[in-house]
Amino acid sequence: MKHYLSINNLDSLQKTIEEAIKLKKSPLQFKFLGEGKTICLLFFNNSLRTRLSTQKAAQNLGMNVIVMNFGSEGWALEFEDGTVMNQEKSEHVKEAAQVISQYCDIVAIRAFASLTDKEKDEAEIVLHNFKKYATIPVVNMESAIGHPLQALADAITIEEYKTKEKPKVVLSWAPHPKALPHAVANSFIEMMQLQDADFVITHPKDYELNPEITKNSKIEYNQDKAFENADFIYVKNWSSYKEYGKVVNTDASWMITEEKMKKTNNAKFMHCLPVRRNVIVEDAVLDSNNSIVIEEANNRTYSAQIILKKILENN
Ligand code: CP
Repeated sequence: MKHYLSINNLDSLQKTIEEAIKLKKSPLQFKFLGEGKTICLLFFNNSLRTRLSTQKAAQNLGMNVIVMNFGSEGWALEFEDGTVMNQEKSEHVKEAAQVISQYCDIVAIRAFASLTDKEKDEAEIVLHNFKKYATIPVVNMESAIGHPLQALADAITIEEYKTKEKPKVVLSWAPHPKALPHAVANSFIEMMQLQDADFVITHPKDYELNPEITKNSKIEYNQDKAFENADFIYVKNWSSYKEYGKVVNTDASWMITEEKMKKTNNAKFMHCLPVRRNVIVEDAVLDSNNSIVIEEANNRTYSAQIILKKILENN
């Protein structure tokens, strides 16, 4: 694997999950693999988990880590070709990506969707231009349309907690006051499509995700019905895809409550975090023994570590 931009870059999801679980038992077993190598983590947006877990993963492999909050500390980047750069953009991605490639051996990038320009977001302007001009591997730490490190951590978590070969996994939309991107939901769906599971997506009408991603995944508009016999409830808000980036519904009845969890098969509650308490999910659910959000966040380290290990071994 040269780059990790999507969960579909993995040769085998199941094999990678197994390798990550093994690595988790002994995280320092490859502590010399990255000796003398440097990873640069570029953040165009805020983060807690991604920043710390990717840094820890790289350090577990013996790598040096440089973190840059590019959005607030870097020069404003130009991504278009042939532009007359006489406005606020100071540096072209062509130079920036090549310069970073001199200092580092891997570059990992976080650059969220604008949610104002669907075409530009779907073109993954930041990620794809870094991939185009950098001469080193590129890792996606959440782009406009995907969050594959999160999806791999989710897959590891489901593997650890499942009690049957083919669990029922429900991805549920929940209300949120702000417009949020589709990246986490997209990558979770792509990951579930590679799994042997009874997978159901539930959301209000008008919150359909990109059909090129949902493909033939089952969609159930009745949340209560979707929850019946579920083994895992994975919750995430996203803004409208059709009315791109708009909040078209904040129906509080979609919040995850104890009552709703009673319809499930004693399901585990999952969320990528950060989560708004008593908006997305009731305290009683988030604080219950069935909530596995902290272990899910813990698995971000091993998701990142297995990906960095594969890249180091292959480049
Ligand atoms: N889940 C996740 O990516 O968390 P951060 O945004 O805090 O990195």
